[in-house]
Amino acid sequence: MSNAQSGRISIADLAAKKKAGQKWAMLTCYEQITAEIFDQAAIPVLLVGDSAGNNFLGFENTIPVTVDELIPMARAVVGASKKAMVVADFPFGSYESSAEQALETGVRFFKEAKVGAVKLEGGVKVVPQIEKLIAAGIPVMGHLGLTPQSVHALGGFKVQGRGDDGDRILKDAKALEAVGVFAIVLEAVPAQLAEKITAALSIPTIGIGAGNSCDGQVLVWTDLMGLTAKMPKLAKAYRNLRKEMSDAATEFAQDVAAGRFPTAEQSFT
Ligand code: KIV
Repeated sequence: MSNAQSGRISIADLAAKKKAGQKWAMLTCYEQITAEIFDQAAIPVLLVGDSAGNNFLGFENTIPVTVDELIPMARAVVGASKKAMVVADFPFGSYESSAEQALETGVRFFKEAKVGAVKLEGGVKVVPQIEKLIAAGIPVMGHLGLTPQSVHALGGFKVQGRGDDGDRILKDAKALEAVGVFAIVLEAVPAQLAEKITAALSIPTIGIGAGNSCDGQVLVWTDLMGLTAKMPKLAKAYRNLRKEMSDAATEFAQDVAAGRFPTAEQSFT
């Protein structure tokens, strides 16, 4: 079952996977080529994350990212994919002020990039924003635990929800479910807490540094491919593309310097 209108993975598909106990993967994606590759690899959900800030745009973290920067990326990912649900992240400063501000941001992502859903960070405090978006027909994914846009308030990239603080995150998760989010990312929380939240919710949880019990798992694609210079503990590099790419660039430069490239094969008569 996919979205009848778009032919893409739908919220109902993800709900059905949870019911059937089927786990699934989500990847970040910021442009055309990776969107084509991951879509063809049947990754069901592509997240145009604000992690573009420190993986694509050259910022130190996600905080400087703007809606204007994410929209062309989201448009490229939607344009280059056929089956995946494409979710756009709300960057810092694009939804916190009011429900109206959140709706304006959601409308821009929907009209200008044609994404299928949006994601925003936070629990009870962003419930009015989520209500407004859902009432307008914009599906929302939540994000709890380590919320990178609050890195300064949290005192750094630290595991969240240890001990009694876990109850706060569980309460936030239940509040997000009650208001209608279709899935929740749980980032850098103890595995036992993620397991408890996943069991308590009927909507899917998507873990990153949240143990193995979540319904889905998400990775930043540059981490997955081993492109990131300093790998975070919560990620796994499935390939070493950093080395592959560096070797290819060096080889190309050496071939040019030695007159080995181009050959007749790359030349025209
Ligand atoms: O922006 C992002 O990449 C994210 C994921 C880590 C969930 O929010």
